[in-house]
Amino acid sequence: MPIVSWSDEFSVNVKVIDDQHQEMLDIVNNLHTAVEGSEDKEVLEKLLIDLNEHTRTHFATEDALMKQYNYPGYEEHLHEHNVLLQHLGNLVASVTQGKSPTFRSDYDVSSDWVLIHIFKSDKELGNFLNNQGVY
Ligand SMILES: [Fe+2]
Ligand SMILES: [Fe+2]
Repeated sequence: MPIVSWSDEFSVNVKVIDDQHQEMLDIVNNLHTAVEGSEDKEVLEKLLIDLNEHTRTHFATEDALMKQYNYPGYEEHLHEHNVLLQHLGNLVASVTQGKSPTFRSDYDVSSDWVLIHIFKSDKELGNFLNNQGVY
């Protein structure tokens, strides 16, 4: 994924979710720069672990909101989060084992997934939450 700057089109109209998405996007961009600059394994590993942690925290936030407001699409949304976490976990593991994934392959797959998830599933969740008075 090329470097993506945050813009309003990313917004799901719920502040806590948007703030977390923005932070995750920042890390993905740093990761992109690090891979392009052929940074050391340690640098990539640190960024990936950081992304992994931010993603877990973020999914926990969305999870709590979905439960609190009895979101009808909960199971499906949770499944997408789990697929993403699995993918991120595999990336961390492969970098830890000394492999250097490239952006054309592994990173692209995961970052594209994240963008598709935000544009479709998180926006649907945002809509639902807005209807519950959550912004
Ligand atoms: Fe989500
Ligand atoms: Fe999200």
